[in-house]
Amino acid sequence: MANVTVIGGQWGDEGKGKIVDWLASRADVVARFQGGHNAGHTLVVDDRTYKLSLLPSGIVRGTLSVIGNGVVLDPWALKKEVETLTEQGVAVSPETLQIAETCPLILPFHRDLDALREDASGQGKIGTTRRGIGPAYEDKVGRRAIRVCDLAHLGDLGPQLDRLCAHHDALRAGFGEQPIDRDRLERELGEIADFVLQFARPVWLTLNEARQRGRRILFEGAQGVLLDVDHGTYPFVTSSNTVAGTAAAGTGLGPSAAGFVLGIVKAYTTRVGSGPFPTELADETGQMLGERGHEFGTVTGRKRRCGWFDSVLVRQSCAISGVTGIALTKLDVLDGFDELRICTGYWLGEQRLDHFPAHAADQARVEPIYEVMAGWRESTAGARSWADLPAQAIKYIRRVEELIQCPVTLVSTSPQREDTILVRDPFAG
Ligand code: GDP
Ligand code: IMO
Ligand code: MG
Repeated sequence: MANVTVIGGQWGDEGKGKIVDWLASRADVVARFQGGHNAGHTLVVDDRTYKLSLLPSGIVRGTLSVIGNGVVLDPWALKKEVETLTEQGVAVSPETLQIAETCPLILPFHRDLDALREDASGQGKIGTTRRGIGPAYEDKVGRRAIRVCDLAHLGDLGPQLDRLCAHHDALRAGFGEQPIDRDRLERELGEIADFVLQFARPVWLTLNEARQRGRRILFEGAQGVLLDVDHGTYPFVTSSNTVAGTAAAGTGLGPSAAGFVLGIVKAYTTRVGSGPFPTELADETGQMLGERGHEFGTVTGRKRRCGWFDSVLVRQSCAISGVTGIALTKLDVLDGFDELRICTGYWLGEQRLDHFPAHAADQARVEPIYEVMAGWRESTAGARSWADLPAQAIKYIRRVEELIQCPVTLVSTSPQREDTILVRDPFAG
């Protein structure tokens, strides 16, 4: 029985939430393995919309949901999200949610530092979600983090907090900020501890046992390969590895657990935050893509930048992440365009490139080379079978497959759960 790992193939917001929700009906466990509440995954079920940031998208269907050790966890954001979902009628209990005891915590001063740095960076700012993601990962790697399991030993936390506060107070002083209010921090941790601890488990064990029993695990990636801290458009990236390989290390399973790697890819391109974007359209067409695709950030409400499909970037993402097949989403947003463009290479000065250069200055300078295709007049919105698609839309999909050197496994044609064309079942391996 194959597991499935879902990852974003571009700069995030490709529609991972919708696809994970759709696949979750056939999974036994859904697991997040990196990122935190910088993610914003939207699920539309009939007339209900669910927005998930930290919780795995399987939770809405009642599938066992696991937050792996690779995630950075803001306890207060967790509580808020659980409360919102409960109000929406979704049951969240230790029977449906497990959190790794080894997750590092995002604390209030991580959020402060994220914002202080962004505000001080002027033009050079990354445009982070200001959730404290980067500073929390820094403390994890710096071996200073407070983790979920520490919440069960608050009385022993003194020396750890001393070290952590000393580190942050020096940084805060550099920004002219007051030191951390240690009493308040300890009080707030004390107040939230039991809420988090009710979900804390050795999730590596849960997942390994599930694997032994032949259960299907669906790994839910956040962000996208182009935001990966190693492989993305550095420094305009997030602070975790977003590639499929992280599914194993971020949950406590071996590398063979990833199974079928499903790359979620939008039929055009968007990006939120700063950084290079070769096919970005600053014109009416870009505006139209944004309006028709409702391209506003789920987490921050920021307008997403829009542009044509970039096959060079997606081919690179698929190769780097070992993508088995892609889910092509938001095809319906391309309905009604007279012509569509696909980027097939770049000019860097006189040099023709078939991959994205590593240096930020070169990434910002490349000029896209386009192939022009005829669009289609018919609507693809809500299509659920190949036969529902106009010939020209099928041509577009086939050309995308050819250029990215990776087959299309699913096509998504609306935000709704069931408006999905299944080409090949990823769980069948
Ligand atoms: P994620 O971060 O990858 O889960 O994606 P987001 O939820 O942030 O953004 C994707 C947006 O597109 C959401 O509003 C979805 O409801 C919506 N969406 C997903 N698939 C489709 C689709 O095939 N067509 C249209 N029109 N919207 C879609
Ligand atoms: P989902 O899972 C799109 C972007 C931010 C910023 C950069 C760093 O919904 O696809 P961070 O707060 O992580 O330090 O910000 O990464 N970013 C996302 N963009 N979708 C996301 O998640 C993102 N998570 C972070 O906009 O450019
Ligand atoms: Mg999103």
